[in-house]
Amino acid sequence: MPTPLISRRAQPLTGSVRVPGDKSISHRAIIFGGLAIGESVIDGLLEGDDVLATAAAMRAFGCDVTRGGDGRWRVHGRGVGGMAEPVDVIDCGNSGTGVRLLMGVAAQQPITSFFTGDGSLRRRPMGRVAAPLGRMGVTVTARGGGRLPLAVTGPEILMPIEYELPVASAQVKSAILLAGLGAPGETTVIEPKRTRDHTETMLRHFGADVRVADMSGGGRRITLVGEPELMARPVVVPADPSSAAFPAIAALLVEGSELRLPGVGTNPLRFGLFETLLEMGADITLENPREEAGEPIADLVVRHGPLKAIEVPAERAPSMIDEYPVLAVAAAFAEGTTVMRGLEELRVKESDRLAATAHGLAACGARVEVEGDDLIVHGAGNGLAGGATIPVDLDHRIAMAFLVAGMAAAKPVAIDDATAIATSFPGFQNLMNQAGAAIEVGVEDTA
Ligand code: S3P
Repeated sequence: MPTPLISRRAQPLTGSVRVPGDKSISHRAIIFGGLAIGESVIDGLLEGDDVLATAAAMRAFGCDVTRGGDGRWRVHGRGVGGMAEPVDVIDCGNSGTGVRLLMGVAAQQPITSFFTGDGSLRRRPMGRVAAPLGRMGVTVTARGGGRLPLAVTGPEILMPIEYELPVASAQVKSAILLAGLGAPGETTVIEPKRTRDHTETMLRHFGADVRVADMSGGGRRITLVGEPELMARPVVVPADPSSAAFPAIAALLVEGSELRLPGVGTNPLRFGLFETLLEMGADITLENPREEAGEPIADLVVRHGPLKAIEVPAERAPSMIDEYPVLAVAAAFAEGTTVMRGLEELRVKESDRLAATAHGLAACGARVEVEGDDLIVHGAGNGLAGGATIPVDLDHRIAMAFLVAGMAAAKPVAIDDATAIATSFPGFQNLMNQAGAAIEVGVEDTA
């Protein structure tokens, strides 16, 4: 049953909002726990549908994954190459990260694993993972266009490869490195553009030998020594900067707001949005910087204030790829024309986010253009009209971005279905309402 939500003008957003655990790190913590020998304890895990699907998948591979009453997760691993053949199809739900990383895990041993997902995931390209796995000797049998459902059969002996990524994708990089754990010798991934490095950090944390060399032009060469024995490790998951983006931008837009967001991950390969907002003149301070499980974190304090338009360079896209919909909302309230370049990857996310963002903002009264792979938002400097219902199309970030728009627009903004929000930010509505938002179940006011 779809749940429509409507977001009306918010009260000033104040207090402290603890956003849920990082989605990327949570998937990896469960997966690496399953590949290690012994029991790994995970604190702060994101208990969103995407990560729960990955936990169920690791159970299907024979790992023991449990949640304690104290919110702690425990994973008893089976070791690299030790997965049992799943007896049923693995359903990754809405999660591209889940299925792509798990394809790498499935490739490590000579078993056949079947994967599927929801209507959104079944539209997304998997050939980008199937191609390098194929070069390692893995058989991937997919539906037309390299789509799910698909089957992965690992070979008796995996071949280590050197592979240059044709798309800037941490998911593809991670799938190859995960498969490479099961291959004798060295597997190398070359990324011409840097992408989030949580897999490399966690590989080291669990005891693998990973070498990373910076290349001229800004890329990286990552080399992993295969067939390590990974040992169980504790993981503390930071708050997700991609989730923090929503309350942070809401606080920037709603007059009188001053909001604290504790323990947010500040990994530079994830922090492009905040870099961009600071360039736009946002009042954001980072307090108490520290480190948890090899990841940098800090408390963010965000205060309302005017924003000015800027040009966001294409090189920055991988470090803020999931944040463009909500940045575009902020841009609609900024003074001047914001140009966001190089957004081709947005077309193959949970929905076509380039189109969904442009259509949604236009429906709210903003002047928006898509030129090639660039998104151009003309900020009127005097707010946004609102008064629209936005189709979410199974995309959590489109849903949350437009609920944020409704908090500061002249008229309310509604979304047709909030269900997808639970994939990455369970409790979003309550958390935002406690801070001052006015989001409730309902449809657009037509009066
Ligand atoms: C993710 C990588 C990104 C991002 C996704 C999570 C990850 O996808 O959009 O939400 O955890 O590795 P790509 O690597 O495909 O760009």
